[in-house]
Amino acid sequence: MKVFFGASGFAKEIYWLYKRQQQAKQQPFDDIEYFIVSDDEIISSHLLKDIKVIHESVFFNKFKKVDLIAYIAIGSPEIRKVIFNKVLNWNNNVNFPSLVDPSVIMDNDGAIKIGQGAIICAGNIITTDIIIDDFVHINIDCTIGHDVKIASFSTLSPGCHISGNVNIGHSVFCGTGAVILEEISIANNTIIGAGAVVTKDISVTGTYIGIPAKRVK
Ligand SMILES: CC(C)(COP(=O)(O)OP(=O)(O)OC[C@H]1O[C@@H](n2cnc3c(N)ncnc32)[C@H](O)[C@@H]1OP(=O)(O)O)[C@@H](O)C(=O)NCCC(=O)NCCS
Repeated sequence: MKVFFGASGFAKEIYWLYKRQQQAKQQPFDDIEYFIVSDDEIISSHLLKDIKVIHESVFFNKFKKVDLIAYIAIGSPEIRKVIFNKVLNWNNNVNFPSLVDPSVIMDNDGAIKIGQGAIICAGNIITTDIIIDDFVHINIDCTIGHDVKIASFSTLSPGCHISGNVNIGHSVFCGTGAVILEEISIANNTIIGAGAVVTKDISVTGTYIGIPAKRVK
């Protein structure tokens, strides 16, 4: 059974990406069965894109032992990790495939490593010798230069530009249009504000905004 965790606007975009990837395979379309949301979310419509929306406890109780293929379509690194741990606690028999939009331009010669559950949206250019770890999300229209590592659960929002030899820690959130100059390392759990330009290593976790990016929290 195939499911999505999340049912927000972002989840709709990832579902569109899922369909684009399926169409590119030129095989019969294999649709997902549920959008699963956390129990504290109010379900305003029980159908999204004609697919059932269901609370996680209802789903977990109904399908205790099922082989699951799951996509975590949630933008926040923190919440994505919580969902991942919840799913694994419930059922070890889960496969988290990556999703890569057919439009992505990248070195397809084994030079890009893409971890489980990673999602790479339309319009990205990812050059060469790049590691995109588990559950990293790269939203639309980013560029990633050579020899970059993005550790697990990090998010690049639309239009981020990552120069060569950059090392992004785990669970880092880069807001829309953020720019990271070459050879920079960014500490785990850091938030980079929309439009910021990071010009120096960030070794202290916090929130950084502006040009050049400065810590505000
Ligand atoms: C940096 C950020 C995380 C801060 O969020 P926050 O802690 O809730 O901060 P606030 O919205 O309360 O703003 C605090 C101050 O910083 C300013 N500010 C907020 N984000 C800013 C940014 N990216 N660049 C410059 N200034 C910013 C606000 O104008 C406000 O200024 P003020 O005190 O003079 O009024 C957030 O604004 C941001 O940039 N998020 C990225 C969102 C995004 O790109 N989402 C992608 C969706 S696909």
